[in-house]
Order: sequence, then C-alpha cells, then structure tokens
Amino acid sequence: MKLKLSSFALAALASFPVLGANEATVTLLPSEESPIIAKEIYGQFAEHLGTCIYGGLWVGENSPIPNTNGYRTDVLNALKELKIPVLRWPGGCFADEYHWMDGIGPKENRPRMVNTNWGGTVEDNSFGTHDFFNLCEMLGCEPYLSGNVGSGTVEELAKWVEYITAEEGPMANLRRQNGREKPWKLKYLGVGNESWGCGGNFRPEYYADVYRRYQTYCRNFNGNRLYKIASGASDYDYNWTEVLMKNARNHMDGISLHYYTVTGWSGRKGSAIDFDSEDYYWTLGKCLEVKDVVKRHCDIMNKYDPKKRIGLLVDEWGTWWDEEPGTKSGHLYQQNTMRDAMVAALSLNTFHRFTDRVRMTNIAQIANVLQSMVLTKDDKMVLTPTYYLFKMYVPHQDAKLLPLNVATPMIRARDGRMVPVVDATASVKDGKTTISLVNTDLNETAEITIDLAGISAKNINGEILTSAGINDYNDFGHPETITLKPFTKGWKQSRGKLTVTLPAKSIVTLTLG
Ligand code: AHR
Repeated sequence: MKLKLSSFALAALASFPVLGANEATVTLLPSEESPIIAKEIYGQFAEHLGTCIYGGLWVGENSPIPNTNGYRTDVLNALKELKIPVLRWPGGCFADEYHWMDGIGPKENRPRMVNTNWGGTVEDNSFGTHDFFNLCEMLGCEPYLSGNVGSGTVEELAKWVEYITAEEGPMANLRRQNGREKPWKLKYLGVGNESWGCGGNFRPEYYADVYRRYQTYCRNFNGNRLYKIASGASDYDYNWTEVLMKNARNHMDGISLHYYTVTGWSGRKGSAIDFDSEDYYWTLGKCLEVKDVVKRHCDIMNKYDPKKRIGLLVDEWGTWWDEEPGTKSGHLYQQNTMRDAMVAALSLNTFHRFTDRVRMTNIAQIANVLQSMVLTKDDKMVLTPTYYLFKMYVPHQDAKLLPLNVATPMIRARDGRMVPVVDATASVKDGKTTISLVNTDLNETAEITIDLAGISAKNINGEILTSAGINDYNDFGHPETITLKPFTKGWKQSRGKLTVTLPAKSIVTLTLG
C-alpha cells in the first residue's frame, strides 16, 4: 500500500523535457486508491483590508448600491457561481488586532479602531461576527475564523467560540440579545495568524506553547466540533513546521502555510499589468516552486504524523504586485491579468497533487485585495480572469483525483527556474471525467496527446480561458476583455487517445461523459 502510494505520487509529479517543441503527452493513470480533491482547496479569504469588506462585500442596507441585507447583490451572485466551500475572516494581520466584542451589538455603539496594518484606515466595526456568519450562510460555505493571539487574551478567544456555538450560558444569552437565537456551527478555528510576524513575532518554541494554551480553552459546545489550526510557516521556514509538529501536534487538526508569488517583501514587487515575457516566465517559475515548498513541509509532517491526520492548509496564496497607481497605500489593490489566471491554474493543479495532505487553501483575497475574484468601484463590479479560472475549475471540487503523467517541453525563466509548457490536472465525479490543460507558452500552440487509459469520451464539452495579450485584464470601462468561452473544436479522438490543440497562453477544461 505504502509503496503504491509513493509510486503514484512520483508518477503524478513527473515531467520530462523529452519531446519536440510544444508537443506534449498526458497519460491518465486511473487508480482506485487516489484521494478526493478536498473542495476546501477552493477556499477564499476576506480580510478587513482596503475595500475587501467595506465596498467589496458589504455596503450596508442604506446604500444606494443594490444590496441584499447590506451585502452587494452583484458580488453575492457572482460569488455563488464559484461554490465557495470555506471563507477565512477577519484576517490576516488584522486578526491579531481584532477584538470581536467591538463588532457585536447596535452598530452605532460600536467602538472605532485604527487598522494599523493596512493604511491606518479607521475601522468602525460595522461588519462583525453576525455579518460574517450571515454571509457564509448566504454563500453556503463554512466559516473559518482567525483568532486573535497576538494582542488578545485566552479568555477573549474562548468566549468568541462560546458566543458562536453555545446553546446556553452568558455568551449564548448575549448572542440572543443581539438577534441570533440558534448557535452557528463553527468548524475551522485558526489560533493566530503569521505568529512569526505580524501576529506577535513569536519564536516557534514559544508559539508552540502559546498555541497549546489558547486552544485548550476553545471548547466544543453542544456537539460542535472545532478543527483547530496552528499558525504555520511562511514559505521556506521549514524549522517552524518542524518545531510546531514536534511540540504541538497532539493539539492540532491542521497547520497553515503561506506562500505568495511575489518578488520580495521590500521595494517594488512589479506592476500587475505592465510586465514583459521575462517577468511572466519568472512569475510562473516562482509560483510553481510551491510544489517543492509544500513537499518539504509535507515531508516534515510525514515524519511526525505518518497517518496524515493533520492537514496542511495553505490559507494564504496568490500573486502580490505593486498597488495600482493612485490607489490608497496599504490597501493592496491590484489588477488581475491572464498571467494571474495562469498562476491560479498552476497553483490549483499543484494543490490537487498534494490533496492527501493539503486539505484547504485560501486564495488572497476575495475582493479588491491582491489576487481577487472581483473588483468593485462604487456600484460597478468586474470579474477577474482569476474568477473565471475558479469558475472553470468548479467540477474538480470533491472529485476523485485522476493521477496523470505529463511529458512536456520546458521553458527556462530568467532565474533558471524551469517552467513546463504544458501542465494538467484531472478528476472524476458522477461518472464524468474533467481534464484541465494549461499551455504556458506565450507564442506557440501546444499539441497535447492524451492517453485516456480506456476512459470513455462519448460526449466532450470544453471551455477556454485565454486572451489576445498576456497583459490583458478586465476593468470598469472594459469588463469583458477576458471571459470564459466555449471550446468546441480544438480536439480529435482516435484509438483511445485525444489530441488537443491549445492556443498559446490558454487554459482549457474538457468534460468527458
Ligand atoms: O493577505 C495580506 C496579508 O498577507 C495578510 O494580512 C497577512 O497574513 C499576510 O502577510
């Protein structure tokens, strides 16, 4: 069993620079033992940062912007299409300065605070716990709370859990007074965020003990079962995972990891829209490095938790570019091009491969911040290429991973990282096979031969995401420069093989029934 699993993993990850330019083969390797792709890999993240919450998701009942009980109707409807499984809130760095009691009760009485992490904006706490849980109910997703460890007390966090989930007692009564009779269900609870940095600048040994202490008092009320998540490493900080797994593994259900596609934390990160082909391939190489990073964190976890009880949750990922000129500093508003959609596809393909350990990921962030699904300006909304990519990948949620092998030419990025021309992922659900294919090459089509391994392909439906230029994006004056389109022609089938011609810089999903 062990041997089979590891050879499956190797096969799934291999790619060989063996074929002629832009000819690639994908071999499907159906396996009874392959895991289900956790739908939570398609999780989202909403922080009190810039206009993510205020303006992006929430405008209040009295706004002239069309809303449903204060939530933007256009954004709600768009997000419903993504079948979001889980939403993380209220941060991010904001979480470790957030005091939840400031966000309950009559809105006019709520104290204000300065959002010191994000531009010094004054936060009026008008969007609080009830508003978040109501939003999750409207979207049909699980809430994921990030608890305040950096500047909050054990008691404060314990009472938050009680307020949300208890049937009886003082916190339940307070919740009732504020208009919510029944407790909510709360599964995912993060105990701090980036505790090595904005969440308290802890050393891992110390945080491991603090984590053990805080989580002790987060109780399971009335049959609610918390899934407790330790604040995990940034990128290449393997020591953090090592120390946490060594010292706190018996007290956690999951540990997080943050990995951004970003040049560095100081200075310019580069424009979201104004980049050249070298920048583009660099971006894809950096994005794909997540494979090695996740693998190394998984290797450490395997040592301490060989049965894979504990999940690795990449609860922040995505591109991080310079803020758009003219926007407020500290609000992390960036545009989103076809390059960002490529990063989303390659990242999700990678997370699928590790789904036996990677149980959740949360792209940063859902609206108006970093690699967003939607951008809003007053009463207008645009859907980003990343939104369309998430929409295209919905069939992979909770589907059985179909392992595959890709043989593809590679492109060398300026820093020496190798970028595959073709990448792929596949899954099976309800008798349908979904294959997603990526051609990263900016100029050439890719001719991909798929060995279907006996899988029936009587009916094939396809969708394509591509654009004339890799720098193309949707904006308020041109909201539909990039959209999902039907892909009806580019394939032929013969003797158990499917040959697909993918245009340059395109992503295609085929559904075989
Ligand atoms: O997503 C923006 C910020 O990035 C988050 O607040 C923080 O956790 C990370 O550094």
